[in-house]
Amino acid sequence: MAGKKLRVGFVGTGGIATGAHFPGWKALEDRTEVVAVCDIREEAVNKAAEFWNVPKKNIFADYEEMLAKTELDVVDVCTPNVYHKGPVVAGLNAGCHVIVEKPVAVAAAEVEEMIAARNKSKKLLMIAQSMRFSAEAIAAKKFVDEGGTGPIYWAKAEYLRNRGVPAWGTFIDADMSAGGPCYDLQVHVLDLALHLMGFPEPVSVSAGYWCEIANQPSVMAHDPKKYTVPEDLAAGFVRFKNGACISMGASWALNCPDTIHNVSVFGPKGGVNMAPFTLTREEAGMFTVSQPKVVPNAGLKSHSEEIRQFVEAIQTGSPSPVPPEQAIVTQKILDAIYESSDKGREIKIK
Ligand SMILES: NC(=O)c1ccc[n+]([C@@H]2O[C@H](COP(=O)([O-])OP(=O)(O)OC[C@H]3O[C@@H](n4cnc5c(N)ncnc54)[C@H](O)[C@@H]3O)[C@@H](O)[C@H]2O)c1
Repeated sequence: MAGKKLRVGFVGTGGIATGAHFPGWKALEDRTEVVAVCDIREEAVNKAAEFWNVPKKNIFADYEEMLAKTELDVVDVCTPNVYHKGPVVAGLNAGCHVIVEKPVAVAAAEVEEMIAARNKSKKLLMIAQSMRFSAEAIAAKKFVDEGGTGPIYWAKAEYLRNRGVPAWGTFIDADMSAGGPCYDLQVHVLDLALHLMGFPEPVSVSAGYWCEIANQPSVMAHDPKKYTVPEDLAAGFVRFKNGACISMGASWALNCPDTIHNVSVFGPKGGVNMAPFTLTREEAGMFTVSQPKVVPNAGLKSHSEEIRQFVEAIQTGSPSPVPPEQAIVTQKILDAIYESSDKGREIKIK
C-alpha cells in the first residue's frame, strides 16, 4: 500500500505482546512498522528489539522517554492490568492512536481518564477484546444484527476453568493484576455478550466471589502462597434498563467437570451459542438447531484480526472497533461484581 507507514511503539513486550500482537503487526508490514520498544525488563525488551530490528536508540525502559524521543503514530500497550492507564493516557497525550490489552483498567475512574485524554487528542483508543474478532463472533454479530434473534433478553457469559490457574506471568499477583479470573476471563465473555446485545445500559449487578481452591496446595503448578488476587471464582447476574439480563461466571479453579468457555444469547426469534457455534430458531414449522458448515473466514486469528481492524480504522478515519465508551460499561460491571460480593447486596450501576 502506498503512503507513509504507521510508526508503532510497544509498551510491554511480555507474553501477549510477543505471542499475539507481534504476529498481528507482522502481517501488516506493508502499512505499519514497529520502530520502538519499551519494557522494564531488559531481557524482554532486547528480545523484542531483535525481533523487530529496532535500533539501540529506540529501546526504552521508560515509556515517557520513548514517547519524547521517538516519533510514533501508534502505541500498543501490553503491560499488566494495573499499568494500563499510564501509557494509554501518555500515548494519547503524545498524539498517538492507542491499542491496549484487556481488561482496559482496574477501575471505571481510570477509563474516564482515558476517555478524557482520547477526547483531547482526537486519536483512536481501542481495547483489545480479542474474542470479538474470531470468525464465529463476527458471524454471530451479523446473525443478530440481521434480526436472527430479535432483541436479546437473556445471555449467559461463562468462562469456567476447573484447574487452570496461570502458573506464568503476573496473573495471580494482586499488585500487578488487581483481580483474578473476573478481570482475566469474565471480561472476555462479558464483552462478547454485551457486543452481541448492542451494549444495553446496565442498571444493577448482584454477584459473589470466592477463593476456595487456588490459595491451597493442589494439583496445579502455581505457588498457592503467591496467590494474592481476591478470587478463583466470580459469578453474578446483571440487569439492564431494557429488561434484559446476563448470567455470568468465571473461574481459574472450580470443581466442575469440564472447562466451559461460552457465550449464549437468546431472543424471541432465535438464539446463538458460541461454543460449539450453534444457531437455534423456528423455520418452516420446525424447531431447528443448526451448526453452520461454512463460516466466512473460518480460522481467522482473532488477535491479528483485531489489530488489522484497528489499523483499518486509523487509515480510513473510522471509529474505534472497540471504543472506551463500551469498555467502561464492562469495567463498571466488573467493579460491581467485587463490590456486590464485599457488601453482600445488589449494586446499582450509574
Ligand atoms: N487478550 C488475551 O487473550 C490476553 C491474554 C493474556 C494476557 N492478556 C493481557 O495482556 C496484559 C499483559 O499480560 P501478559 O500475559 O503479556 O503479561 P507479561 O507479564 O507476560 O507481560 C507484561 C510485560 O509488561 C512489562 N511491564 C510491566 N510494567 C511496565 C511498564 N511500566 N513499562 C513497560 N513495561 C512494563 C513487564 O516487564 C512484562 O514484560 C494483561 O493486561 C493481560 O490481561 C490478554
